[in-house]
Amino acid sequence: MITPPHVVPPKRPLSMLAALRTGRRNILETIPAAVYENPIVSGRTVWRWHSAASPAAMRHVLRDRVSDYPKSRIMRRILDPVIEKSVFVAEGEQWAWQRKAFAGAFQPRALSAFAPLILDETRRAIERLGEQGPGRTDICPLITGIAFKIISRTIVSAAEETEELAFQRLFTAYLDGLARISVLDFFNLPVGIRRVVDFSNRPTIRAIKRHMDRIIDQRRGGREGSDDFLQSLLDARDPDGRPMGRTLMRSNLFAFFFAGHETTALALSWALYLCALDRTVQDRVRQEAKSVLAASSADTLNDGLAYTQQVVEEALRLYPPAGMIVRNAARDDEVCGRRIRRGDYVFLPIYALHRHHDCWERPDTFDPDRFSASRTADRDRFQFLPFGAGPRICLGASLAIMQAKIILATVLSRLSVTPASPQPQPQLIVTLRPKDGIHLEVKPL
Ligand code: HEM
Repeated sequence: MITPPHVVPPKRPLSMLAALRTGRRNILETIPAAVYENPIVSGRTVWRWHSAASPAAMRHVLRDRVSDYPKSRIMRRILDPVIEKSVFVAEGEQWAWQRKAFAGAFQPRALSAFAPLILDETRRAIERLGEQGPGRTDICPLITGIAFKIISRTIVSAAEETEELAFQRLFTAYLDGLARISVLDFFNLPVGIRRVVDFSNRPTIRAIKRHMDRIIDQRRGGREGSDDFLQSLLDARDPDGRPMGRTLMRSNLFAFFFAGHETTALALSWALYLCALDRTVQDRVRQEAKSVLAASSADTLNDGLAYTQQVVEEALRLYPPAGMIVRNAARDDEVCGRRIRRGDYVFLPIYALHRHHDCWERPDTFDPDRFSASRTADRDRFQFLPFGAGPRICLGASLAIMQAKIILATVLSRLSVTPASPQPQPQLIVTLRPKDGIHLEVKPL
C-alpha cells in the first residue's frame, strides 16, 4: 500500500517563537506528535490553547456546545475586512437567518441540475490540455480554473468568459495575499496596526468588491435571473422581514467564492495526485468512469461513481483542505476531562483527527477501501470531518463532493497520469495546499 507525502510531527510542542515562526510557514509542522495520540493536548503560546483531535472533542465543540465555541478571533481578524457578518463568520441570530435562507440552494436535489455544466466545463478543460500534447504539467491551476468556473456558474449563473477570467485572477491574488498570515494576527492588536501588512491586498479587495457590485446591480436591473445562490440572496428576508443590504450581500458572495472554489480544487488536485501514485486505484476509477459515463445521462451521474467517491473521501482524509478549525471558548467548560477557561483557544486539527492513531489503522497510507460501505458502517461519524460538523457544517459539502467525483472520473476516463517531480508537500496556512504545486505527466488515452 502506498504512503504519500505527510508531515512528520515534532516530538514535543514548539517554544513560543518557534511555533510562531514555523506556523507562518506551515501550521502542520507545529502540531506535536502527542496530538495524534491523545484526546486533547494543552499548552500556552502567548495564550492558553488546547489541541483536540479526538472524535469526542469534535462532537462536544462542534455539535453539543456549538454556541459556547464561536469562530475564533484569529479567523475573524484575517477575514473580517471582506466577509464580516456573512454566514461564514456571523454568530447567533445573525447567522441563523442567513443559514436558513441559503440552505435550499445547496440541497443535493437542487444541485444535480449542475452536473451537466460540471461535465461540460471539465471536457472543455481536457480539450485545452490535450491541445498542449503529452507532457509534464502543474495540474493545480487547471483544476482551480474548472472549480472557479463552476462555482461562479452555480452562484451567479452565467457570466462573460473574459469577465470571469479577470475575476478569477483577482481572487487568486487575494488568496495568495491571505496566505501570508502575519505574526501580528496572533495578537490582539488594534485593526490599524495588525493588518498594516494587508496594504498589498487592499487594491485587490477593492477590485473584487467593485466586481461583486456589478453582478448585484446587473441582476437587480433585470438581467436574467435563475435559481442560483445570488437569487437566494435577493430573496432572503431577515427576522423583521427586511431584505438583505448591499454590504451583507457582497460579504456573502465573497464568502461563497472564498469558501467554495479553492477548497474543492485542492481536494481534487490531491485526489488526482493519489491516483497518479497508485496505478491500481487509477485503473479502477477509469473503469468505473467509463461504464457510468456511458450508461448515465449527465443529471443522473451523481448517483453513480461509488468507487470514485471513495477515492475523493480518502483524499479528503489524507489532505483535508480545511486542515484546522479554530474556536475560542465563550465560557468555562470541560472537554475530554480537561478544564477549558473562557477565552482559551481550542484548535481542532482535522488533519490530525484524520490520522489519529486511535481512529485509523496505518493512518498515513492511501486506501480508498476504508470508505467502502462495509468498513464505514460502524465508524464514529466524528472521526472524519473534512466539512466540519454540527449546525455549522459546510453548506457546500454536497456540491463539492459532486464536483470532485464528476471531474475526477471525467479526467481519468480521458487522460492517464503519472507523478513527476518535485513531490508535493502538504502545507497548511489558511488551506492545505501542495507546496510548489502538483506536477504530473499527463497523456491522452
Ligand atoms: C472540498 C471542498 C470544501 C471543504 C473541504 C470545505 C470545508 C468546510 C469546513 C471545514 C467548514 C466549517 C468551518 C468551521 O466550522 O469553522 C466549512 C464551512 C462553510 N463552507 Fe465549505 N468546504 C468546501 C466547499 C465549499 C463549497 C463548494 C461551498 C459553497 C459553494 C462552501 C461554503 C461554506 C460555507 C458558507 C460555510 C460556513 C457555514 C456556516 O458557518 O454556517 N464550502 N466548509
